[in-house]
Amino acid sequence: MAWEVLLPAASAPARARGRALQAALRDAVRSGRLAPGTRLPSSRDLASDLGVSRGLVTEAYEQLTAEGYLRSGRGAGTWVSGAVRAARPHARDLAPHAPGLRADFVPGTPDLSLFPRTAWAAAQRAVLTDLPHEDLGYPDPRGLPRLRTALAGLLARRRGVVADPERIVVVSGVAQATALLALALHARGARAVGVEDPGSPRHTALYAAAGVTVVPLPLDDEGLAVQPLRSSGVRAVVTTPAHQFPTGIAYSARRRAELLDWARSEDGFVVEDDYDGDFRYDRAPVGALQGLDPERVAYTGSVSKSLAPGLRLGWLLVPGALAEEVVERKRTTDLGHPALDQALFARFVERGDYDRQLRRCQRAYRERRDTLVDALREHFPGAQVSGIAAGLHVIAELPARYGPQERFLERTSAAGIEVRALAQYAHARDERDPGPRLVLGYAHVPPARIRDGVRLMAQALADG
Ligand SMILES: Cc1ncc(COP(=O)(O)O)c(C=O)c1O
Repeated sequence: MAWEVLLPAASAPARARGRALQAALRDAVRSGRLAPGTRLPSSRDLASDLGVSRGLVTEAYEQLTAEGYLRSGRGAGTWVSGAVRAARPHARDLAPHAPGLRADFVPGTPDLSLFPRTAWAAAQRAVLTDLPHEDLGYPDPRGLPRLRTALAGLLARRRGVVADPERIVVVSGVAQATALLALALHARGARAVGVEDPGSPRHTALYAAAGVTVVPLPLDDEGLAVQPLRSSGVRAVVTTPAHQFPTGIAYSARRRAELLDWARSEDGFVVEDDYDGDFRYDRAPVGALQGLDPERVAYTGSVSKSLAPGLRLGWLLVPGALAEEVVERKRTTDLGHPALDQALFARFVERGDYDRQLRRCQRAYRERRDTLVDALREHFPGAQVSGIAAGLHVIAELPARYGPQERFLERTSAAGIEVRALAQYAHARDERDPGPRLVLGYAHVPPARIRDGVRLMAQALADG
């Protein structure tokens, strides 16, 4: 049996999860989906597939054994008991599944169930108790000094940025950092910025809102191609050098140097969106571009991929020439970031909770990436999978026999599988080989569901 029937229970709220898991297992036995004599996976394997703690699975096995649904052997092992007679299904159970979502590989979201609720709640209580009254007034528009100091240490240590707390602005995510930079660049007379093509549609929308148009610039194997940048006439360019979004290219050392040469010669700026820079799997971390020239690079990142996008918390390290304008825009936009959230996150960083969270996510996401790459190789022989060394998504280029792309997307969508094509992030049309080229996000999908999703995708094509 595919253990996917247990997945909804596994994503129940933490307090209800144990009971939901037991109910789902009991139902599976009663309905006959788990036949008498079926051997259950080890508690360790099932816990890992479902993304829950092993204790929850052990407890569910023990409870259902006590109730007579399961029996455990003399050695290790748990089976479905022969004592249970499956009820005859109701007619409505025989109806075909409603056409719902069966697999979701849309990139951009982390696993929200990994949010460290206990540590967060403890930090929240401590901060409410300790926060000096004066910190509840309007904050410095750049952010609480305590958080800026904590961030400076964190970013220098983890990402190699040149982190002066005076040059940090606490923002509500990369999105707000981008919006503030767009306004500051506009105030300096910029009416166009370069963006990577393919790239993030969010950049385009945010610059457009500030009255700055974007000039799509092509990539090559080393990152943003320099010659088209030089001839474009722009004096600012938005980049994702650690793990280009969406192709996953890591900018080469040579390209980084060339970009900075360009910025110096134009009196221009490079914006570095380090949206998933914390997640590296099998290569050494590539330090931030900002570390090479903090006066030419505006660096931005957030907790959206490591904690949760809903927190709306991020940072911007701003070059001196843009600093005053950016801080003034932050002040006029919202009078500064919420103080309690800032104090809480400062404590979280200071006490090592944030590093712990990053390590935990890193372990989970590495396993999911491996699962996805293996499943693609198994079900789509000949697929080229790239951009896998970092981040939360991969690029899968499928052989032409799985194409054309439009038909592929129709089939998968009809089968309840959400995927994105690389073309959806591109300005320029790609005239190459007609095989589907996909951007597959995996961080939010537990391993069992990744395996099932890829199998369903292959099946959807075979059935058509
Ligand atoms: C490349 C890229 N940059 C920035 C963002 C926005 O991030 P934030 O939530 O920090 O505003 C996203 C969101 O998915 C993204 O994909």
